[in-house]
Amino acid sequence: MLVLSLLVLLLLAVPPRQTAELQLGLREPIGAVSPAFLSLTLDASLARDPRFVALLRHPKLHTLASGLSPGFLRFGGTSTDFLIFNPKQDSTWEEKVLSELQAEGDVCGAWPSSAVVPELLLTQWPLQEKLLLAEHSWKKHKNTTITRNTLDILHTFASCSGFRLVFGLNALLRRAGLQWDSSNAKQLLGYCAQRSYNISWELGNEPNSFRKKAGIYIDGFQLGRDFIHLRQLLSQHPLYRHAELYGPDVGQPRKHTQHLLRSFLKSGGKAIDSVTWHHYYVNGRSATREDFLSPDVLDSFATAVRDVQEIVEATVPGKKVWLGETSSAYGGGAPQLSNTYVAGFMWLDKLGLAARCGIDVVMRQVFFGAGSYHLVDASFKPLPDYWLSLLYKRLVGTRVLEASVEQADARRLRVYLHCTNPQHPKYREGDVTLFALNLYNVTQRLQLPKQLWSKSVDQYLLLPHGKDSILSR
Ligand SMILES: *[C@@H]1O[C@H](CO)[C@@H](O)[C@H](O)[C@H]1NC(C)=O
Ligand SMILES: *[C@@H]1O[C@H](CO)[C@@H](O)[C@H](O)[C@H]1NC(C)=O
Ligand SMILES: *[C@@H]1O[C@H](CO)[C@@H](O)[C@H](O)[C@H]1NC(C)=O
Repeated sequence: MLVLSLLVLLLLAVPPRQTAELQLGLREPIGAVSPAFLSLTLDASLARDPRFVALLRHPKLHTLASGLSPGFLRFGGTSTDFLIFNPKQDSTWEEKVLSELQAEGDVCGAWPSSAVVPELLLTQWPLQEKLLLAEHSWKKHKNTTITRNTLDILHTFASCSGFRLVFGLNALLRRAGLQWDSSNAKQLLGYCAQRSYNISWELGNEPNSFRKKAGIYIDGFQLGRDFIHLRQLLSQHPLYRHAELYGPDVGQPRKHTQHLLRSFLKSGGKAIDSVTWHHYYVNGRSATREDFLSPDVLDSFATAVRDVQEIVEATVPGKKVWLGETSSAYGGGAPQLSNTYVAGFMWLDKLGLAARCGIDVVMRQVFFGAGSYHLVDASFKPLPDYWLSLLYKRLVGTRVLEASVEQADARRLRVYLHCTNPQHPKYREGDVTLFALNLYNVTQRLQLPKQLWSKSVDQYLLLPHGKDSILSR
């Protein structure tokens, strides 16, 4: 029995006008993605005030993250290059209380209900989110201390919810503004190795804008040498001898960023396990609701993918390409849009297109944190993109198949096909999952190929809810 699961994202439910014929390539996969394809990020700004890192011990966050495992949990972002590890700094009072609680119980245990401190943090967190967002838009960056406790909590959160931690090291510590100064990274690696934290690593975030962020210009050639240097450091720890290293986490592939990526890969390509780059469709401050539903905006992603892949193929052919940080709109997301139903069109389409184009892993900015592009909001409630991710994770497997529709404007009726996730208890090897996005404001009828007419179909239909309609949360 072949079961077809249909995941359908609609704007409006009104009677269908047209029928579109589906063409499905059921014979063989056109590619495969990592089992960690849909992965998550935490923004490093969470550590700006280390007290708030303790929120990661909230039982709701554990449960919600576990639902999206397995995957990578990347801890990175602009603040990466302003975090300085201080192994001697006494932990803040709250952290101490929490680590004592942690020492008492099992390592994955959540807060005991008697803990008073977390309640205080919870009430202060929405304000802290606003502060972090404001800081981000001032573009004035300050160094912050990262403590042992922060590393402990991050590692515990990741491993207890089924994720592998990817930690971004500060690349802006430089000797005379030139070579990377690895002394602080050495201390951090030493601490993590001593605690037997099995972590994967990155070095720096969006080096293409180091000049704007810190007045330091580092070219791709130098950055490549810095990665080789980090690789040597890692090999000094038995635990990290074979640790994965990813980079260079460049921003959108504009001309000068393409240049940086190319020279980085030429000099340091052999030091990395996957090439990472970042993608956002639009600027959060100016994005409109129409952008979120525009086939042109959605297709712009495919162009960016091709630009990056061309460079990778010319320099380190065969190396896996990852979206190391990605979401709908940069600058924390688009308020009232990135956290609503309408954001699902950008998210589901990115997952579909990325897999079809051969991107191996997509790390969603952010699981929890400041801005409006989070999957879980400041009051620990999951948003529409959380539920969409959960459904995707459950239904969509790693093998990618070809799918298209016969229609005048196929860009408005977007379809993607994968083998169904064989981990799903209801489905088995041979089942397929089709996901479809309807950007028309009228219902479209999809017609399956004749060979599937006798099969069972499970339909997962997603519709806007309530008076807020497509802006519903
Ligand atoms: C951060 O600290 C480093 C090392 O002390 C220093 O070189 C750099 O200028 C500092 N950056 C900021 C923004 O204060
Ligand atoms: C660390 O984790 C990776 C990936 O899960 C695994 O392959 C590796 O064996 C682990 N290393 C150690 C020393 O446990
Ligand atoms: C659908 O969009 C068209 C063209 O933008 C518009 O004229 C029409 O009123 C819309 N229909 C509904 C039901 O919103």
